[in-house]
Amino acid sequence: MLPHSAAYIHFPWCVRKCPYCDFNSHPLREQDDFAAYTQALNIDWQAQQHTLEEHVLFDSVFLGGGTPSLFEPEQMSPVLQKLPRSDGAEVTMEANPGTTEHHLLGGYRDVGINRLSIGAQSFSNAQLERLGRIHNNTETYAAYEQARGAGFENINIDLMWGLPEQSVGQALDDLETAIALQPEHISWYQLTIEAKTEFAVRTPILPRDAVLADIETQGLLRLEAAGYHRYEVSAFARPGFQCRHNLNYWSFGDYIGIGAGAHGKISNSSANGLTIERTLKSSQPRLYQGSPNTTSVKPVPDAERPIEFMMNVLRLVDGVNTETFVRNTGLAWQVVEPAWQRLVSQGLVRQDRIATTATGLRYLDSVLAEFLTSD
Ligand SMILES: C[S@@+](CC[C@H](N)C(=O)[O-])C[C@H]1O[C@@H](n2cnc3c(N)ncnc32)[C@H](O)[C@@H]1O
Ligand code: SF4
Repeated sequence: MLPHSAAYIHFPWCVRKCPYCDFNSHPLREQDDFAAYTQALNIDWQAQQHTLEEHVLFDSVFLGGGTPSLFEPEQMSPVLQKLPRSDGAEVTMEANPGTTEHHLLGGYRDVGINRLSIGAQSFSNAQLERLGRIHNNTETYAAYEQARGAGFENINIDLMWGLPEQSVGQALDDLETAIALQPEHISWYQLTIEAKTEFAVRTPILPRDAVLADIETQGLLRLEAAGYHRYEVSAFARPGFQCRHNLNYWSFGDYIGIGAGAHGKISNSSANGLTIERTLKSSQPRLYQGSPNTTSVKPVPDAERPIEFMMNVLRLVDGVNTETFVRNTGLAWQVVEPAWQRLVSQGLVRQDRIATTATGLRYLDSVLAEFLTSD
């Protein structure tokens, strides 16, 4: 593993399951035991620590979910304190506005969390209800104000667009409200209907393609004009506030995954070149708690590395350089050069960098298809 790296910690419960969500999240029940879970996180970390370089320092830690903000700061503290962090490391926690209280937000800062990602989703109460959210817009404003009051200087707001029967005006109103709050970062996701979710079974009426195209075109212009620069398909930041943790994912960097259902990616140099392994923990909290140091490990063979790499880095507006390809895949650039040159000639990617053109970003699936075939 690279000496500077990232750690993801998963918190698998939510007050209730949102009908569009396919993340590893489980409705909280009486018998769920947070103390047992946090103890399992400690055991998990200790077991994985032995597989890492001795002097590993984490540049970013991301507490995601599920709803991490259901846990008290004191419950998170033991595992957080054990992770060795570099000076100024970014430590993010996802917070659901229905679960944040002022005294707790200050407590999260005290245990080292310095970036908050608030799941607003929409500022329309009618939409929040359709999305099965546990909060209304007043609670979202309150969570944001409380976070500022508690001293958070790096806040992300998660918003979704293309919501059931949403008009262009309604989607832009949501965006305008988020911009008016002046967060450092906005994640603006198009609602996708994921298999096996409630919305896949009872699919609501979604906006027509022409409406979606208008929302996207006008929203992108508005975000840019307000000083939120797009650096990834759905991520927009003020200068200096790009999410370091996600930048590492999108650069095909290494990270460890702690907690139920958490994924990791670990590379190691050996005499035979670079080995890359994907790690995965049991996703059921109960199974995970019963055996937190059990990790399933799957090597990433050379043949799969180009597509895995491109699926991540081509989401980045500015992409990466070819050295990043060589360093993070262990392969020579020549392996993908013929495919790359074909895409250059079609005007879909850049000649000087591993990045799409504006057109290529719109047709990302077609660009990626080039790397599914070998040569
Ligand atoms: C892992 S979720 C967790 C955030 C937190 N639990 C919450 O909902 O407030 C991260 C974000 O992904 C986005 N998301 C989840 N499901 C989605 C879907 N089906 N389509 C688009 N965005 C989605 C939402 O904006 C959500 O805030
Ligand atoms: S609160 Fe977040 S993680 Fe939980 S079900 Fe809803 S979207 Fe998914």
